[in-house]
Amino acid sequence: MATARTANPAQMIGLNKPANGQLRGQAALLAAAQQPSALQKRTSIPQSSGGIKFGDDWKKCLELPPKDTRMRTADVTSTKGNEFEDYCLKRELLMGIFEMGWEKPSPVQEESIPIALSGRDILARAKNGTGKSGAYLIPLLERIDLKKDHIQAIVMVPTRELALQVSQISIQLSKHLGGVKVMATTGGTNLRDDIMRLDETVHVVIATPGRILDLIKKGVAKMDKAQLIVMDEADKLLSQDFVVLIEDIISFMPKDRQILLYSATFPISVQKFMNKHLKKPYEINLMEELTLKGITQYYAYVTERQKVHCLNTLFSRLQINQSIIFCNSTQRVELLAKKITQLGYSCFYIHAKMMQEYRNRVFHDFRNGLCRNLVCTDLFTRGIDIQAVNVVINFDFPKNAETYLHRIGRSGRFGHLGLAINLITSEDRYNLKNIEDQLVTDIKPIPSSIDKSLYVAEFHSVDPDDDENDYDDHGGAKNKELGGI
Ligand SMILES: Nc1ncnc2c1ncn2[C@@H]1O[C@H](COP(=O)(O)OP(=O)(O)OP(=O)(O)O)[C@@H](O)[C@H]1O
Ligand SMILES: [Mg+2]
Repeated sequence: MATARTANPAQMIGLNKPANGQLRGQAALLAAAQQPSALQKRTSIPQSSGGIKFGDDWKKCLELPPKDTRMRTADVTSTKGNEFEDYCLKRELLMGIFEMGWEKPSPVQEESIPIALSGRDILARAKNGTGKSGAYLIPLLERIDLKKDHIQAIVMVPTRELALQVSQISIQLSKHLGGVKVMATTGGTNLRDDIMRLDETVHVVIATPGRILDLIKKGVAKMDKAQLIVMDEADKLLSQDFVVLIEDIISFMPKDRQILLYSATFPISVQKFMNKHLKKPYEINLMEELTLKGITQYYAYVTERQKVHCLNTLFSRLQINQSIIFCNSTQRVELLAKKITQLGYSCFYIHAKMMQEYRNRVFHDFRNGLCRNLVCTDLFTRGIDIQAVNVVINFDFPKNAETYLHRIGRSGRFGHLGLAINLITSEDRYNLKNIEDQLVTDIKPIPSSIDKSLYVAEFHSVDPDDDENDYDDHGGAKNKELGGI
């Protein structure tokens, strides 16, 4: 492969060659991309002219997104049957929740919301895409006191894109709360802008560790009255890369602050931090099984030189709505993106060595469905939520089980169906077996044709008004013959 330099990724927009097996035509892609991810477009039910009215009819005034007709697996449907209204939340917050299209709490939200509201520390482990962001943001926003103008809560995340995503969700959820000020602060942006912003009222900070610590140490971000710190992707934040920064940040907070930890993976290394900083944490573990029920995993055995050809075949045979393709280095991301473009498929790429401006643009445009395929490093492995992604491809196989789990969890969001395909070279063989064992999962050899009902939305949509249509497992709606994995 020839070397490619970091080009403006936007150059790769619009190279959609029609003659391939990917779902053809931008309209189809956009239609699916606009499944009601709350951050995407929505149709609105007209409000009464005086804006939102309070009274028994408040629910009728909501601007609801279109119903998502895709089936959902038991990963999100096996709840206790709680309602968001059971938690005595402010009505304005409930309005924001319902306008996200969230009708009922997911299992992790049921477990987490009441405990977080009570002020107790939490360690919560729940599968990818099952609503952990809502599980901490709802109680966090409920507890913001608008009469006070200092920072009251901070959410730490490991990547800048995730910070943007979480701050967008916070803004959406708090839309009717009348003045909750949310600020995202990350590296790669102008420090002076952040300093000026912090001169005004900020109630909630969503941050990556380096930048917020810088602002705290400069005395600009004041943490002495911040009662709550959330660590999303906590195990990553508590890994060697970040833990020193996190402990430093916590040292600026009040002694009786509340700490909430969320992730799908909690390696044993987290225990040390927990023992040191958490007070009788309430432990939530919804991961008796580790992989998502809705994701079918395959591998294709290839040599390094066959990988691009194999990818080309996958593109021509699969019905990809949107795909994320992982490589193990920045350089390989760029090389592969170039190859894919040469093959005539539309493709963006993103990695941490790109300018933040471009990263933001790629993230924004990909989630809005402007391009079908995204090639990336592990920058996009954790937390990134793009509902239209139905296929994840490990062009390079990851080194460890945590990374594998988070990567494949980029499809099959909120219990939907998805496909994970791994290109395996002879060097990866041992790793494949290892990861299968650690995750107690079955990665099967790829068949010559893949049943579309396993991953294509139009093959598994249901009547939105029929509650009996919950999806139990691979293969169809409430098929009683199919047990759990
Ligand atoms: N109660 C709900 N009802 C319907 N959809 C929901 C609900 N809660 C969250 N969602 C949607 O589910 C998707 C996944 O949520 P989220 O990103 O919070 O998952 P997560 O558990 O944090 O996943 P990850 O482990 O990958 O970070 C989002 O698109 C979100 O809007
Ligand atoms: Mg998350």
